[in-house]
Amino acid sequence: MIVDKLNSESLMKMEDKYGAHNYHPLPVVLSKGEGVYVWDPEGNKYFDFLSAYSAVNQGHGHPKILKALYDQAKDLTLTSRAFYNDQLGPYEKFITSYFNYDKVLPMNTGVEAVETALKLCRKWAYEKKGVQADRAKIVFASGNFHGRTLAVISASVDPDSRTGFGPYMPGYEIIEYNNLEALESALSDENIAGFIVEPIQGEAGVVVPDSNYLKDAYALCKKYNALFIADEVQTGIARTGKLLATCGNCSCEKSCGNQPEVKPDILILGKALSGGVLPVSAVLADDDIMLCIKPGEHGSTFGGNPLACNVAMAALNVIRDEGLAENAENLGKVFRQRMQALIDKSDLVTLVRGKGLLNAIVINDAPESKTAWNICVELKDNGLLAKPTHGNIIRFAPPLVINEEQLHECCDIIEKTILNHKQ
Ligand SMILES: Cc1ncc(COP(=O)(O)O)c(C=O)c1O
Repeated sequence: MIVDKLNSESLMKMEDKYGAHNYHPLPVVLSKGEGVYVWDPEGNKYFDFLSAYSAVNQGHGHPKILKALYDQAKDLTLTSRAFYNDQLGPYEKFITSYFNYDKVLPMNTGVEAVETALKLCRKWAYEKKGVQADRAKIVFASGNFHGRTLAVISASVDPDSRTGFGPYMPGYEIIEYNNLEALESALSDENIAGFIVEPIQGEAGVVVPDSNYLKDAYALCKKYNALFIADEVQTGIARTGKLLATCGNCSCEKSCGNQPEVKPDILILGKALSGGVLPVSAVLADDDIMLCIKPGEHGSTFGGNPLACNVAMAALNVIRDEGLAENAENLGKVFRQRMQALIDKSDLVTLVRGKGLLNAIVINDAPESKTAWNICVELKDNGLLAKPTHGNIIRFAPPLVINEEQLHECCDIIEKTILNHKQ
């Protein structure tokens, strides 16, 4: 143990004094996790209904993922890509067959994978589409969240993400989400290299587009010879009841090989790729796209490290072996039914939306009000952790290992909290 055991209050004060103030956490300190539960240093137990923004899909401390971590850590953790390592090749073979792509480019955080996809898209535009040097443009959807680097926040419309960080990256066009006409008009510009989209906008408040949107957007990209890039960092890896939110009706407890409705030209994964154990992200594409990047043009010291490779294989095996996509699909329906029943009883909640176990409720108050925040504090006091997003929306995303009995217990907590809330 590096630090002596401190209580929650002193730990929060310490973060406030010594850490940058770039987050505003709920007032709870976590010191232990197992499955769907987390504990604070005082021993209070909570249901985790955020799962580290959908990174802990496999549940906290999954023994098979931890075994992969410990076993590999004993042998070798990092080589850099200056040399080959004995885990990377097997991992690349495994993940490309799991998601049905020719190649993978391994990175660490979600935003690095997004940056990689944007670079790859531009490179493809110059090498394959014939766009003139430095003219390539990428289309983004308004309300997007793709991470926090300068290139990525340049595409954001959220003032908190953007303001004060200019000048911004050129070569972007931002269109309305879920608007196919706007997409077609943007794509008709011959300099467009690609369109990057979240299949469900998680940070924007779990905004689910029309059921035909992704399929038709994909078809438009094909029509105008632009790349369709899916950012599945939050929606991917079983969260929305399918292995990927972009894959239509395939039974994804197997893999994505069976005729997905939409096969993104570039697929971006992160978060749950390691089950929340390490930062592991990946960009997947077929050869004609991926081989546009040559040696020396892109990389990362930690990307493809043996520890990450071994952990990611274990994390993906858990998803498949434990049928977590199916569980998310089934329990998501139960959750939305329970929330709909609550809406019928309370004026405080106006809407429930989502897919699988990525859901949100909309609180009947102004986005700038403190109501959703106060409800989250009351949920915490009742033993369930969730966080507001965009003011009056509360996202609910438990680990996908949750069972039906636990889910009902959580719905009881949410119901009790909402019904007892005093404005
Ligand atoms: C859709 C999406 N893309 C990218 C990211 C960035 O991931 P990271 O925080 O690991 O950089 C996130 C994080 O929430 C996300 O939700």
